[in-house]
Amino acid sequence: MQILNFDLARACAQRRLPRGVFEYIDRGTEDETAILATRHAFDAHRIMPRVLRNEAPPDTRVTILGENWNQPFMVAPTACAGLVHYNGEIELARAAERFGIPFCAATEAITDISGIAHSVRRRPWFQLYVWEPLEYSLELLDHVRALGVTTLLVTVDTPVAPNREYNIRNGFDIPFRFSMRNILDLARHCGWVARVMLPYIRRGRLPDFANYPPAFRATLLGPGAAGSLTHHPRLSWDILRQLREKWPGHFVIKGILHPDDARMAVDMGAEGIVVSSHGARNFDSAMTVLDALPAIVQTVGGRLTILADSGVRRGSDIFKLLAQGAQGVLTGRAMLYGLACDGQHGATRMMQILAGELTTTMRFAGCRTVDDIRT
Ligand code: FNR
Repeated sequence: MQILNFDLARACAQRRLPRGVFEYIDRGTEDETAILATRHAFDAHRIMPRVLRNEAPPDTRVTILGENWNQPFMVAPTACAGLVHYNGEIELARAAERFGIPFCAATEAITDISGIAHSVRRRPWFQLYVWEPLEYSLELLDHVRALGVTTLLVTVDTPVAPNREYNIRNGFDIPFRFSMRNILDLARHCGWVARVMLPYIRRGRLPDFANYPPAFRATLLGPGAAGSLTHHPRLSWDILRQLREKWPGHFVIKGILHPDDARMAVDMGAEGIVVSSHGARNFDSAMTVLDALPAIVQTVGGRLTILADSGVRRGSDIFKLLAQGAQGVLTGRAMLYGLACDGQHGATRMMQILAGELTTTMRFAGCRTVDDIRT
C-alpha cells in the first residue's frame, strides 16, 4: 500500500504489528474521550486563508534551543520503539538526522542511549522518567551527559500508571503475559516475529529497557534480578530543582497544561516546556493542548521555549499548534507508524508527508516563514 498520509500509515502498521503492540501505540486510556476531544479541537480550529502572498516558497527552518533545524517538528520520545521495528530507536534517530529534525530518545527505549548516540552524528535529546530511588536517575543523567547530550526533557505528567485496560486484555506488559489470545495473535503476525524478535534473539538478548540499571532490567519474559524500578511516586518541584542543578544543558519539562505550572517552570530555571497531554494516552479527562496553549503563551511566552504535542495527524495540525504559540511540535504515533511500515524509510516518508502538508497549509495561509504563522 502506498503511504500517502497518517491514516494509511496507521492502517499499514495495524496489519504489520501484533495487536498488543499496535494498541499500545494507538490507543488512549479509559474511554478514550481525550483522543476524540483532541481530534475535535484540531478540526474545530479553522485557519483564515490569505491570498496573493506566495512570491517565494515557504521556509520551514527554525531555531529551537539554540540549534538550527529544517522543520518545526521533531520525533517525540516513545517507549518501546524497538518493538515496532528491530533497532527501532536507531532507525528513527537516523531518519530524523537525515531530515534535519530533532530526535528525542526515551528512558524506556529498547536501545540504550549510548547505542543511539553512537549511531548518529548529531546528539539526540534525552527524555527522563524519574525513578525512585532518585540516585539511579542521577547516575543515568551522568551517563547521558558524558555522551554529549545537551537537551533533557523531564516528563512530569505521569503521577500514576494510566488505566489502559486494553494492555491488560492484550497481556502487553514487561514481563509479557502469555495467554491463548496473544499467542494466537503472535501466530497471525509471524512476519513481525521474524523481522523484529528473531534478530534480537539471534544477537542473544531479548528486548528490555536498556537504560535501566542491569539489576532492574526486566525482559519480556521476567523481572530484573533486583525487582522493578518505578517512576518516582512523589515527583515534586524540589526534585526537579535537584535535577536542574545536576544538568548543565537545556532543561525542558514535558507534560504541562496549566499556566501556573508553566510559570513554576520558568521560576525554577527551565529553558523549555512541552505543552502536552501525552498523546491523550494518560488522563482521559485532560484538557486539550490547543485549548491550553493560549493561556500558557500569555503567561510565559518569551521567557522559555514552548514546544507542544499530542494528536498531530496532518501538517495542518502542526500549523495550528504553531499558530497558538508553540515554537516546535513533537510527533509520536506518526513516526512509529512510519517505522512499523518500513523502518527508517517509513519514518522518513512520514516526515516528508508532514513537511509537505505543513508547506501546503503555509501557502494557503499566506505564511512564508514559521514566524509568520505565529503572527
Ligand atoms: C509515548 N509518549 C511518551 N512520552 C514520554 O515522555 N515518555 C515515554 O516513554 C513515552 N512513551 C510513549 C509511547 C508511545 C507508544 C506513544 C504513542 C507516546 C508520549 C509522546 O512523547 C508524545 O507526547 C505523544 O506521542 C504525542 O502525541 P502523538 O503525536 O502520538 O499523537
